[in-house]
Amino acid sequence: MNVIVVGAQWGDEGKGKVVDLYSAKADYIVRYQGGNNAGHTLVVNGKKTVLHLIPSGILHPGKTCLIANGVVFDPEVFFEEIESLVQSEAFRDHSGNPTQPHHVVRVSERAHVILPYHRTLDQLRENHASKLSGAGGKIGTTGRGIGPAYEDKVARRGIQVIDLLRPDVLRAKLKRTLEEKNVLMKHHFDAPLLELEPLFELCLRLGERLRPYVADVRGVLVHALQHKKPILFEGAQGTLLDVDHGTYPFVTSSNTVAGGALTGSGVGPGVPVQVIGITKAYTTRVGTGPFPTELEHVDPELAQKIRKIGAEFGATTGRPRRTGWLDLVALKYAVEVNGITGLALTKADVLQNFDHIKVCTSYRLAGNTLYELPSSGEDLEKVEPAYEVLPGWGSYNPREIHSPADLPQELRDYMRFIEDFLHVPIVLMSTGPGREETLVISDPFQAS
Ligand code: IMP
Repeated sequence: MNVIVVGAQWGDEGKGKVVDLYSAKADYIVRYQGGNNAGHTLVVNGKKTVLHLIPSGILHPGKTCLIANGVVFDPEVFFEEIESLVQSEAFRDHSGNPTQPHHVVRVSERAHVILPYHRTLDQLRENHASKLSGAGGKIGTTGRGIGPAYEDKVARRGIQVIDLLRPDVLRAKLKRTLEEKNVLMKHHFDAPLLELEPLFELCLRLGERLRPYVADVRGVLVHALQHKKPILFEGAQGTLLDVDHGTYPFVTSSNTVAGGALTGSGVGPGVPVQVIGITKAYTTRVGTGPFPTELEHVDPELAQKIRKIGAEFGATTGRPRRTGWLDLVALKYAVEVNGITGLALTKADVLQNFDHIKVCTSYRLAGNTLYELPSSGEDLEKVEPAYEVLPGWGSYNPREIHSPADLPQELRDYMRFIEDFLHVPIVLMSTGPGREETLVISDPFQAS
Protein backbone atom coordinates (compact mmCIF):
# COMPACT_ATOMS: atom_id res chain seq x y z
CA MET A 1 0.00 0.00 0.00
CA ASN A 2 1.06 3.61 -0.64
CA VAL A 3 0.19 6.60 1.51
CA ILE A 4 -0.51 10.26 0.77
CA VAL A 5 -0.13 12.54 3.78
CA VAL A 6 -1.96 15.87 3.56
CA GLY A 7 -2.51 18.76 5.93
CA ALA A 8 -6.23 18.89 6.66
CA GLN A 9 -6.26 22.52 7.88
CA TRP A 10 -4.20 25.61 6.97
CA GLY A 11 -0.82 23.91 7.24
CA ASP A 12 1.48 23.42 10.21
CA GLU A 13 -0.58 20.46 11.45
CA GLY A 14 2.53 18.51 12.44
CA LYS A 15 2.94 16.68 9.13
CA GLY A 16 6.72 16.52 9.57
CA LYS A 17 6.47 14.18 12.49
CA VAL A 18 3.90 11.90 10.85
CA VAL A 19 5.88 11.86 7.60
CA ASP A 20 9.01 11.03 9.56
CA LEU A 21 7.24 8.13 11.24
CA TYR A 22 5.70 6.81 8.02
CA SER A 23 9.02 7.21 6.20
CA ALA A 24 10.30 4.25 8.16
CA LYS A 25 7.70 2.11 6.36
CA ALA A 26 8.19 3.46 2.83
CA ASP A 27 11.04 2.92 0.38
CA TYR A 28 10.39 6.14 -1.53
CA ILE A 29 9.34 9.50 -0.10
CA VAL A 30 8.07 12.10 -2.56
CA ARG A 31 7.51 15.85 -2.29
CA TYR A 32 4.99 16.69 -5.04
CA GLN A 33 3.93 20.34 -4.63
CA GLY A 34 4.92 23.60 -2.99
CA GLY A 35 8.52 24.44 -2.36
CA ASN A 36 10.57 25.81 0.47
CA ASN A 37 7.52 27.64 1.83
CA ALA A 38 7.00 24.43 3.82
CA GLY A 39 8.82 23.87 7.07
CA HIS A 40 8.96 20.51 8.74
CA THR A 41 10.35 20.51 12.24
CA LEU A 42 11.57 17.12 13.38
CA VAL A 43 12.78 16.20 16.83
CA VAL A 44 14.88 13.04 16.76
CA ASN A 45 16.79 11.97 19.86
CA GLY A 46 16.13 15.44 21.29
CA LYS A 47 17.82 17.09 18.25
CA LYS A 48 15.79 19.54 16.18
CA THR A 49 16.06 19.60 12.37
CA VAL A 50 14.02 21.92 10.16
CA LEU A 51 13.64 20.97 6.50
CA HIS A 52 11.93 23.17 3.93
CA LEU A 53 12.46 21.37 0.65
CA ILE A 54 14.10 17.97 1.04
CA PRO A 55 11.61 15.29 2.17
CA SER A 56 11.90 14.62 5.89
CA GLY A 57 12.47 10.94 5.03
CA ILE A 58 16.10 11.93 4.42
CA LEU A 59 16.75 11.29 8.11
CA HIS A 60 16.02 7.59 7.59
CA PRO A 61 18.94 5.64 6.17
CA GLY A 62 18.28 3.61 3.04
CA LYS A 63 15.32 5.61 1.71
CA THR A 64 15.11 7.36 -1.64
CA CYS A 65 13.81 10.93 -1.40
CA LEU A 66 12.26 12.40 -4.52
CA ILE A 67 11.43 15.98 -5.40
CA ALA A 68 8.86 15.60 -8.15
CA ASN A 69 7.68 17.72 -11.07
CA GLY A 70 4.95 19.57 -9.11
CA VAL A 71 7.43 21.20 -6.75
CA VAL A 72 8.87 24.65 -7.37
CA PHE A 73 12.50 24.05 -6.68
CA ASP A 74 14.95 26.60 -5.28
CA PRO A 75 18.42 25.16 -5.97
CA GLU A 76 20.13 27.56 -3.57
CA VAL A 77 17.92 26.42 -0.70
CA PHE A 78 18.40 22.82 -1.75
CA PHE A 79 22.19 23.08 -1.45
CA GLU A 80 21.92 24.90 1.90
CA GLU A 81 19.87 21.98 3.23
CA ILE A 82 22.20 19.38 1.75
CA GLU A 83 25.15 21.16 3.37
CA SER A 84 23.47 21.39 6.77
CA LEU A 85 22.59 17.67 6.60
CA VAL A 86 26.16 16.82 5.67
CA GLN A 87 27.46 19.00 8.53
CA SER A 88 25.05 17.40 10.97
CA GLU A 89 26.65 14.05 10.23
CA ALA A 90 23.59 12.67 8.47
CA PHE A 91 25.78 11.40 5.62
CA ARG A 92 29.03 9.56 6.12
CA ASP A 93 30.90 7.16 3.86
CA HIS A 94 32.33 3.83 5.08
CA SER A 95 35.35 5.58 6.59
CA GLY A 96 33.15 8.05 8.47
CA ASN A 97 33.92 11.03 6.20
CA PRO A 98 31.17 13.46 5.13
CA THR A 99 29.69 12.55 1.76
CA GLN A 100 27.10 14.07 -0.62
CA PRO A 101 23.77 12.24 -0.70
CA HIS A 102 23.51 11.98 -4.53
CA HIS A 103 22.31 8.44 -4.33
CA VAL A 104 19.36 9.09 -2.03
CA VAL A 105 17.98 12.44 -3.23
CA ARG A 106 16.61 12.89 -6.73
CA VAL A 107 15.15 16.02 -8.33
CA SER A 108 12.77 15.89 -11.26
CA GLU A 109 13.98 17.24 -14.58
CA ARG A 110 10.54 18.75 -14.98
CA ALA A 111 10.34 20.65 -11.68
CA HIS A 112 10.21 24.41 -12.15
CA VAL A 113 13.04 26.44 -10.73
CA ILE A 114 12.72 29.34 -8.29
CA LEU A 115 15.26 31.99 -9.26
CA PRO A 116 16.23 35.16 -7.38
CA TYR A 117 13.77 37.29 -9.41
CA HIS A 118 10.87 35.14 -8.15
CA ARG A 119 11.77 35.97 -4.57
CA THR A 120 12.16 39.65 -5.47
CA LEU A 121 8.77 39.73 -7.19
CA ASP A 122 7.06 37.92 -4.30
CA GLN A 123 8.33 40.52 -1.85
CA LEU A 124 7.62 43.49 -4.14
CA ARG A 125 4.05 42.27 -4.71
CA GLU A 126 3.40 41.82 -1.01
CA ASN A 127 4.79 45.28 -0.20
CA HIS A 128 2.68 46.78 -2.95
CA ALA A 129 -0.45 44.92 -1.78
CA SER A 130 0.03 45.94 1.84
CA LYS A 131 -1.32 49.36 0.83
CA LEU A 132 -4.64 47.69 -0.03
CA SER A 133 -6.99 45.65 2.12
CA GLY A 134 -9.44 42.75 1.65
CA ALA A 135 -9.23 40.39 -1.33
CA GLY A 136 -6.78 42.63 -3.22
CA GLY A 137 -4.56 43.03 -0.18
CA LYS A 138 -1.55 41.32 1.27
CA ILE A 139 -1.63 37.51 1.37
CA GLY A 140 1.11 37.20 3.93
CA THR A 141 3.21 34.90 1.73
CA THR A 142 6.42 33.35 2.97
CA GLY A 143 8.31 35.59 0.52
CA ARG A 144 10.14 32.61 -0.95
CA GLY A 145 9.08 33.22 -4.56
CA ILE A 146 6.57 30.38 -4.65
CA GLY A 147 3.66 32.26 -6.29
CA PRO A 148 5.76 33.97 -9.00
CA ALA A 149 7.46 30.65 -9.89
CA TYR A 150 4.08 28.91 -10.31
CA GLU A 151 2.81 31.89 -12.30
CA ASP A 152 5.68 31.47 -14.75
CA LYS A 153 5.03 27.74 -14.97
CA VAL A 154 1.37 28.19 -15.85
CA ALA A 155 2.14 31.08 -18.19
CA ARG A 156 4.61 28.76 -20.00
CA ARG A 157 7.63 30.95 -19.39
CA GLY A 158 9.14 28.99 -16.49
CA ILE A 159 12.65 27.56 -16.25
CA GLN A 160 12.71 23.82 -15.55
CA VAL A 161 15.50 21.89 -13.86
CA ILE A 162 16.43 20.30 -17.20
CA ASP A 163 16.99 23.77 -18.68
CA LEU A 164 19.77 24.42 -16.16
CA LEU A 165 21.73 21.69 -17.93
CA ARG A 166 21.22 23.11 -21.44
CA PRO A 167 22.96 26.48 -21.82
CA ASP A 168 21.46 27.47 -25.18
CA VAL A 169 17.90 26.77 -24.21
CA LEU A 170 18.47 28.39 -20.84
CA ARG A 171 19.80 31.65 -22.26
CA ALA A 172 16.92 31.99 -24.71
CA LYS A 173 14.31 31.29 -22.05
CA LEU A 174 15.88 33.63 -19.50
CA LYS A 175 16.13 36.39 -22.08
CA ARG A 176 12.46 36.11 -22.94
CA THR A 177 11.26 36.01 -19.36
CA LEU A 178 13.49 38.91 -18.23
CA GLU A 179 12.18 41.16 -21.01
CA GLU A 180 8.72 40.86 -19.57
CA LYS A 181 9.81 41.02 -15.94
CA ASN A 182 11.75 44.20 -16.56
CA VAL A 183 8.66 45.98 -17.83
CA LEU A 184 7.08 45.20 -14.46
CA MET A 185 10.21 46.15 -12.56
CA LYS A 186 10.48 49.50 -14.29
CA HIS A 187 6.90 50.62 -14.68
CA HIS A 188 4.97 48.89 -11.91
CA PHE A 189 7.40 48.48 -9.03
CA ASP A 190 9.95 51.19 -9.81
CA ALA A 191 12.62 48.62 -8.89
CA PRO A 192 16.12 47.91 -10.30
CA LEU A 193 16.18 46.05 -13.62
CA LEU A 194 17.16 42.38 -13.80
CA GLU A 195 20.35 41.57 -15.68
CA LEU A 196 20.65 38.56 -17.94
CA GLU A 197 24.36 37.69 -17.79
CA PRO A 198 24.88 37.30 -14.01
CA LEU A 199 21.65 35.32 -13.82
CA PHE A 200 22.69 33.06 -16.68
CA GLU A 201 26.06 32.41 -15.00
CA LEU A 202 24.37 31.63 -11.70
CA CYS A 203 22.01 29.17 -13.39
CA LEU A 204 24.88 27.39 -15.11
CA ARG A 205 26.78 27.02 -11.83
CA LEU A 206 23.69 25.72 -10.06
CA GLY A 207 22.94 23.34 -12.92
CA GLU A 208 26.41 21.80 -12.85
CA ARG A 209 26.20 21.27 -9.12
CA LEU A 210 22.73 19.83 -9.45
CA ARG A 211 23.55 17.45 -12.29
CA PRO A 212 24.17 14.34 -10.14
CA TYR A 213 20.81 14.80 -8.41
CA VAL A 214 18.68 15.26 -11.54
CA ALA A 215 16.51 12.33 -12.62
CA ASP A 216 13.35 11.27 -14.38
CA VAL A 217 11.47 11.08 -11.08
CA ARG A 218 8.27 9.87 -12.72
CA GLY A 219 10.21 6.96 -14.21
CA VAL A 220 11.68 6.15 -10.79
CA LEU A 221 8.16 6.03 -9.37
CA VAL A 222 6.81 3.82 -12.15
CA HIS A 223 9.63 1.38 -11.45
CA ALA A 224 8.86 1.48 -7.70
CA LEU A 225 5.17 0.82 -8.35
CA GLN A 226 5.93 -2.09 -10.70
CA HIS A 227 8.00 -3.66 -7.93
CA LYS A 228 5.35 -2.91 -5.30
CA LYS A 229 7.71 -0.77 -3.26
CA PRO A 230 5.77 1.33 -0.73
CA ILE A 231 5.72 5.05 -1.55
CA LEU A 232 4.95 7.91 0.78
CA PHE A 233 3.68 11.09 -0.85
CA GLU A 234 4.50 13.97 1.45
CA GLY A 235 2.11 16.90 1.12
CA ALA A 236 3.07 20.41 2.15
CA GLN A 237 0.88 23.28 3.44
CA GLY A 238 -2.76 22.36 4.05
CA THR A 239 -6.07 21.73 2.31
CA LEU A 240 -7.45 25.21 2.94
CA LEU A 241 -4.38 26.73 1.26
CA ASP A 242 -5.06 24.80 -1.98
CA VAL A 243 -5.23 27.12 -4.99
CA ASP A 244 -8.47 25.49 -6.24
CA HIS A 245 -10.16 24.32 -3.05
CA GLY A 246 -8.80 26.63 -0.38
CA THR A 247 -9.79 30.04 0.93
CA TYR A 248 -8.91 31.77 -2.33
CA PRO A 249 -7.15 34.22 -2.80
CA PHE A 250 -5.54 33.68 0.61
CA VAL A 251 -3.94 30.44 -0.49
CA THR A 252 -0.65 29.15 -1.78
CA SER A 253 -0.19 28.61 -5.52
CA SER A 254 -0.27 24.81 -5.73
CA ASN A 255 -2.71 21.92 -5.29
CA THR A 256 -2.14 20.91 -1.71
CA VAL A 257 -5.00 18.37 -1.77
CA ALA A 258 -4.40 14.65 -2.30
CA GLY A 259 -5.10 14.91 -6.05
CA GLY A 260 -1.98 17.07 -6.29
CA ALA A 261 0.08 13.99 -5.43
CA LEU A 262 -0.93 12.45 -8.76
CA THR A 263 -0.40 15.41 -11.08
CA GLY A 264 2.58 16.55 -9.04
CA SER A 265 4.45 13.26 -9.47
CA GLY A 266 3.12 11.75 -12.69
CA VAL A 267 1.40 8.76 -11.09
CA GLY A 268 -2.06 7.67 -12.30
CA PRO A 269 -5.23 7.48 -10.19
CA GLY A 270 -5.34 3.67 -10.09
CA VAL A 271 -2.52 3.51 -7.57
CA PRO A 272 -3.51 1.74 -4.34
CA VAL A 273 -3.38 4.49 -1.77
CA GLN A 274 -4.54 5.53 1.66
CA VAL A 275 -4.96 9.25 2.32
CA ILE A 276 -4.02 10.36 5.80
CA GLY A 277 -5.17 13.86 6.84
CA ILE A 278 -3.24 15.50 9.63
CA THR A 279 -5.13 17.76 11.98
CA LYS A 280 -4.25 19.47 15.20
CA ALA A 281 -6.66 19.18 18.12
CA TYR A 282 -7.23 22.91 17.53
CA THR A 283 -6.65 25.18 14.52
CA THR A 284 -3.92 27.60 13.44
CA ARG A 285 -3.27 29.76 10.43
CA VAL A 286 -0.39 31.99 9.33
CA GLY A 287 -0.81 34.83 6.89
CA THR A 288 -4.06 36.65 6.24
CA GLY A 289 -7.47 35.33 5.18
CA PRO A 290 -10.65 34.04 6.81
CA PHE A 291 -10.42 31.87 9.94
CA PRO A 292 -13.89 31.33 11.50
CA THR A 293 -12.81 29.89 14.86
CA GLU A 294 -9.96 32.34 15.44
CA LEU A 295 -9.75 33.37 19.10
CA GLU A 296 -7.66 36.54 18.81
CA HIS A 297 -10.59 38.97 18.80
CA VAL A 298 -12.85 36.86 21.04
CA ASP A 299 -10.45 35.83 23.78
CA PRO A 300 -6.93 37.15 23.13
CA GLU A 301 -5.61 35.63 26.35
CA LEU A 302 -6.70 32.15 25.36
CA ALA A 303 -5.36 32.69 21.82
CA GLN A 304 -2.00 33.63 23.30
CA LYS A 305 -2.08 30.71 25.75
CA ILE A 306 -2.54 28.16 22.95
CA ARG A 307 0.15 29.91 20.88
CA LYS A 308 2.57 29.81 23.77
CA ILE A 309 1.98 26.23 24.93
CA GLY A 310 1.81 24.96 21.34
CA ALA A 311 4.93 26.97 20.30
CA GLU A 312 2.85 28.25 17.40
CA PHE A 313 5.44 30.22 15.47
CA GLY A 314 6.15 29.51 11.78
CA ALA A 315 8.98 27.06 11.05
CA THR A 316 9.76 28.98 7.85
CA THR A 317 9.21 32.64 8.74
CA GLY A 318 9.05 32.59 12.56
CA ARG A 319 5.74 34.51 12.38
CA PRO A 320 3.27 34.00 15.27
CA ARG A 321 0.44 31.74 14.12
CA ARG A 322 -3.19 32.74 14.61
CA THR A 323 -4.91 30.24 16.90
CA GLY A 324 -8.48 28.99 17.42
CA TRP A 325 -10.68 26.02 18.31
CA LEU A 326 -11.04 22.95 16.11
CA ASP A 327 -13.33 23.63 13.14
CA LEU A 328 -15.18 20.46 12.15
CA VAL A 329 -17.05 22.15 9.29
CA ALA A 330 -13.71 22.92 7.64
CA LEU A 331 -12.34 19.50 8.56
CA LYS A 332 -15.33 17.73 7.02
CA TYR A 333 -14.66 19.66 3.83
CA ALA A 334 -11.03 18.53 3.97
CA VAL A 335 -12.11 14.90 4.40
CA GLU A 336 -14.29 15.20 1.30
CA VAL A 337 -11.95 17.09 -0.97
CA ASN A 338 -8.96 14.83 -0.22
CA GLY A 339 -10.81 11.53 0.13
CA ILE A 340 -9.23 11.15 3.56
CA THR A 341 -9.30 7.54 4.78
CA GLY A 342 -7.67 8.10 8.17
CA LEU A 343 -6.84 11.01 10.44
CA ALA A 344 -3.72 11.70 12.43
CA LEU A 345 -4.48 13.89 15.45
CA THR A 346 -1.64 16.05 16.72
CA LYS A 347 -0.98 18.38 19.63
CA ALA A 348 -3.82 17.27 21.94
CA ASP A 349 -1.17 17.59 24.65
CA VAL A 350 -1.28 21.40 24.15
CA LEU A 351 -4.87 21.43 25.45
CA GLN A 352 -4.05 19.53 28.66
CA ASN A 353 -5.68 20.93 31.82
CA PHE A 354 -8.16 23.12 29.95
CA ASP A 355 -11.54 23.28 31.80
CA HIS A 356 -13.45 22.79 28.61
CA ILE A 357 -12.77 22.40 24.90
CA LYS A 358 -14.91 23.92 22.18
CA VAL A 359 -15.48 22.36 18.76
CA CYS A 360 -17.17 24.21 15.90
CA THR A 361 -19.88 22.06 14.30
CA SER A 362 -21.70 24.63 12.14
CA TYR A 363 -21.60 28.29 11.13
CA ARG A 364 -24.21 31.03 11.37
CA LEU A 365 -24.48 33.50 8.52
CA ALA A 366 -27.22 36.12 8.11
CA GLY A 367 -29.66 34.15 10.27
CA ASN A 368 -28.96 30.83 8.54
CA THR A 369 -27.13 27.78 9.83
CA LEU A 370 -24.43 26.45 7.49
CA TYR A 371 -23.08 22.92 7.70
CA GLU A 372 -20.79 23.33 4.69
CA LEU A 373 -17.86 25.62 4.05
CA PRO A 374 -19.11 28.55 1.94
CA SER A 375 -17.32 29.00 -1.40
CA SER A 376 -17.12 32.76 -1.05
CA GLY A 377 -14.19 34.01 0.98
CA GLU A 378 -16.25 37.10 1.86
CA ASP A 379 -18.97 34.87 3.37
CA LEU A 380 -16.43 32.78 5.23
CA GLU A 381 -14.99 35.98 6.68
CA LYS A 382 -18.43 36.84 8.09
CA VAL A 383 -19.61 33.49 9.49
CA GLU A 384 -20.04 33.03 13.25
CA PRO A 385 -18.90 29.63 14.54
CA ALA A 386 -21.45 27.57 16.53
CA TYR A 387 -19.76 25.40 19.15
CA GLU A 388 -20.28 22.20 21.09
CA VAL A 389 -18.61 22.44 24.47
CA LEU A 390 -16.85 19.30 25.66
CA PRO A 391 -15.15 18.64 29.00
CA GLY A 392 -11.39 19.17 29.06
CA TRP A 393 -8.89 16.50 30.01
CA GLY A 394 -6.22 16.58 32.70
CA SER A 395 -2.56 16.00 32.18
CA TYR A 396 -0.97 12.78 30.98
CA ASN A 397 2.58 11.63 30.48
CA PRO A 398 3.11 10.99 26.76
CA ARG A 399 5.64 8.29 27.57
CA GLU A 400 3.03 6.30 29.44
CA ILE A 401 0.60 6.15 26.55
CA HIS A 402 0.87 2.79 24.83
CA SER A 403 -2.73 2.29 23.76
CA PRO A 404 -5.84 4.49 23.45
CA ALA A 405 -6.99 3.06 26.81
CA ASP A 406 -4.08 4.89 28.49
CA LEU A 407 -5.43 8.29 27.40
CA PRO A 408 -7.68 10.31 29.74
CA GLN A 409 -11.34 9.37 29.19
CA GLU A 410 -12.29 12.96 28.22
CA LEU A 411 -9.64 12.95 25.49
CA ARG A 412 -10.90 9.63 24.20
CA ASP A 413 -14.40 11.13 24.14
CA TYR A 414 -13.06 14.11 22.20
CA MET A 415 -11.49 11.77 19.65
CA ARG A 416 -14.71 9.76 19.39
CA PHE A 417 -16.65 13.00 18.82
CA ILE A 418 -14.36 13.91 15.91
CA GLU A 419 -14.55 10.41 14.39
CA ASP A 420 -18.34 10.27 14.65
CA PHE A 421 -18.74 13.71 13.10
CA LEU A 422 -16.42 12.99 10.17
CA HIS A 423 -17.02 9.25 9.73
CA VAL A 424 -13.26 8.73 9.51
CA PRO A 425 -11.11 6.85 12.04
CA ILE A 426 -8.19 8.41 13.87
CA VAL A 427 -5.33 6.09 12.91
CA LEU A 428 -2.53 7.88 14.68
CA MET A 429 -2.22 10.25 17.57
CA SER A 430 0.77 12.35 18.45
CA THR A 431 0.92 12.49 22.25
CA GLY A 432 3.97 14.80 22.48
CA PRO A 433 6.61 16.37 20.21
CA GLY A 434 9.22 13.57 20.19
CA ARG A 435 9.36 10.80 17.57
CA GLU A 436 8.60 8.19 20.22
CA GLU A 437 5.64 10.14 21.67
CA THR A 438 3.21 8.70 19.19
CA LEU A 439 0.33 6.29 19.45
CA VAL A 440 -0.14 4.25 16.30
CA ILE A 441 -3.71 2.96 16.26
CA SER A 442 -3.57 1.33 12.83
CA ASP A 443 -1.00 1.24 10.02
CA PRO A 444 -2.20 2.63 6.65
CA PHE A 445 0.62 0.80 4.81
CA GLN A 446 -0.98 -2.47 5.93
CA ALA A 447 -4.54 -1.49 4.95
CA SER A 448 -6.21 -3.86 2.51
P1 IMP B 1 3.21 31.30 -0.26
O1 IMP B 1 3.05 29.83 -0.29
O2 IMP B 1 4.56 31.74 0.27
O3 IMP B 1 2.87 31.97 -1.56
O4 IMP B 1 2.15 31.89 0.80
C1 IMP B 1 0.75 31.84 0.57
C2 IMP B 1 -0.01 31.56 1.86
O5 IMP B 1 0.27 30.22 2.28
C3 IMP B 1 0.38 32.44 3.04
O6 IMP B 1 -0.78 32.65 3.84
C4 IMP B 1 1.38 31.61 3.79
O7 IMP B 1 1.47 31.98 5.16
C5 IMP B 1 0.77 30.22 3.61
N1 IMP B 1 1.74 29.15 3.70
C6 IMP B 1 2.66 28.78 2.80
N2 IMP B 1 3.36 27.72 3.22
C7 IMP B 1 2.86 27.37 4.41
C8 IMP B 1 3.14 26.31 5.35
O8 IMP B 1 4.01 25.45 5.14
N3 IMP B 1 2.39 26.31 6.48
C9 IMP B 1 1.42 27.21 6.70
N4 IMP B 1 1.11 28.19 5.87
C10 IMP B 1 1.82 28.28 4.74
